[in-house]
Amino acid sequence: MSINSSFSYLFFLKDSGVNSFLQNSPNKRYKAIKKDAPLDRASHPNNIQNIESLNQLEVFIKTSNNCPLKNQALNTVFADGNPSSKIMLIGEAPGAEEDKSGKPFVGAAGQLLNKMLAAINLDRNSVYITNIVPWRPPNNRAPNTEEILQCLPFIQKHIEIIHPSILVLLGGTATKAMLATTLGITKLRGKWYEYNSLNIKEPILTMAMYHPAFLLRSPGHKKETWEDLQKIQKKIITMNNENI
Ligand code: URA
Repeated sequence: MSINSSFSYLFFLKDSGVNSFLQNSPNKRYKAIKKDAPLDRASHPNNIQNIESLNQLEVFIKTSNNCPLKNQALNTVFADGNPSSKIMLIGEAPGAEEDKSGKPFVGAAGQLLNKMLAAINLDRNSVYITNIVPWRPPNNRAPNTEEILQCLPFIQKHIEIIHPSILVLLGGTATKAMLATTLGITKLRGKWYEYNSLNIKEPILTMAMYHPAFLLRSPGHKKETWEDLQKIQKKIITMNNENI
């Protein structure tokens, strides 16, 4: 349908007294438009090493073109939650819902993640959440090694800026990428590791656990996840008592 005929169609509907749709939203007749807000590029470093703030990092990622995943995504999914939090969660990559909204973990896996956080008295305002890769891979496939490597400097800088006391890696993809290992999540989950970076003085305590999307498919593993969550809760209580 051309734009002119779409207008005639709308006027026809209006003149016929139509003032509501049976669906919640009208049919999408046009390709979705990328929604990334216009960015103020001025004063933003063009070398990631020189980035010092979250805002600079967000602009840097949104204006970078080193990863082809970006070309097919609707939005750059940067992060959600509290940037001052001491707990940073890292997932795999945005899915369809996240791609539409520009926020991580808003779909079904996100709903379960909210419940997991609530089980240890946390919520979206008390943690900071992002992903290894900020753009949705087509058909919800996992990001491949090349895509992960292209996006790795983003997440490394993201961790440096947030500087959490605890990192929680959700699922095998995030865990392998951040711990630089080929071991599977079943072997790695539930133990404490240290994440090191040249630009962070102290190593960051890191826990790997199953991804909520995996738990939706395999609820039998929720028991182990509950144990992992309790370890994180215990660590938070110790850190609070020691004022870390
Ligand atoms: N799965 C992820 O790993 N991240 C999201 O943001 C959503 C689903």
